[in-house]
Amino acid sequence: MAIIIVLKDQEALAAAAADRVTSLIEASIAGRQAARLCLSGGRTPRRLYELLADNARPWRARIDWTCVHVFWSDERQVPPDHPESNFGMAHRALLAHVPIPSAQVHRMRGELPDAADAAREYAAVLSGHLPFDVLLLGLGEDAHIASIFPGSVLPNGSGASLVRLAHANPTGFAPQDERVAAVWVEHLHAWRITLTPPALLDARAIVVLVSGASKAAAVSAALDGPEDVRRWPAQLLRAAGDRVEWLMDSAAARSHDAPPA
Ligand code: 6PG
Repeated sequence: MAIIIVLKDQEALAAAAADRVTSLIEASIAGRQAARLCLSGGRTPRRLYELLADNARPWRARIDWTCVHVFWSDERQVPPDHPESNFGMAHRALLAHVPIPSAQVHRMRGELPDAADAAREYAAVLSGHLPFDVLLLGLGEDAHIASIFPGSVLPNGSGASLVRLAHANPTGFAPQDERVAAVWVEHLHAWRITLTPPALLDARAIVVLVSGASKAAAVSAALDGPEDVRRWPAQLLRAAGDRVEWLMDSAAARSHDAPPA
């Protein structure tokens, strides 16, 4: 059963997420002398990243960034300096301000002309780095996670559909070519590079950050709705049980009855 924590507003959400992510990273470093942190894209995590980088706040000094490897859950097919780049946002908000060795920042190369090449390349990058210790995810208004959108059929070596991937490998490692996929997103008219369910659901801890009333219906479908993974991809997270922590502000949680934190 997922853990659900509701905060009063966006700033409280970002601070609670900074505390939780920092504690998870500290525990990984204490236990394994390393932490594999997979970052989410989108706008929601930006404030979290800024707080983690802020010298005036307690979290920056608690993390030994020389022990951290950073990855991404997905990326747009754009160069790293493009305003839409998930890497670019994290670099501006966090990575440029902490002493993480550049060789430990593993970005998806969205600049490649063929997104499938970027996906194959990233699958090789991930080899030897899974499972993640901490996976951050956002939630789309349509309940997408990473770049797994409603109706996604992830092209991969086995040709498995989204549902088969979820049920076939809810926690076990998939063959390398099933861990990262290039997906065409029709309504965005764009390619995305995304981790697939086996790579996502293997994480030791999954922290889902959701803010705003526009996400309330997606939260309710993801947490409470009848199972329909192709329609509500965030339901894939049910396979990860209590390794999933939903941190939401009260606006996002309004259709869900979790008590305020
Ligand atoms: C992306 C993300 C995506 C995001 C959701 C929520 O590349 O956009 O990986 O899954 O987390 O779309 O986005 P917001 O945080 O901007 O609402």
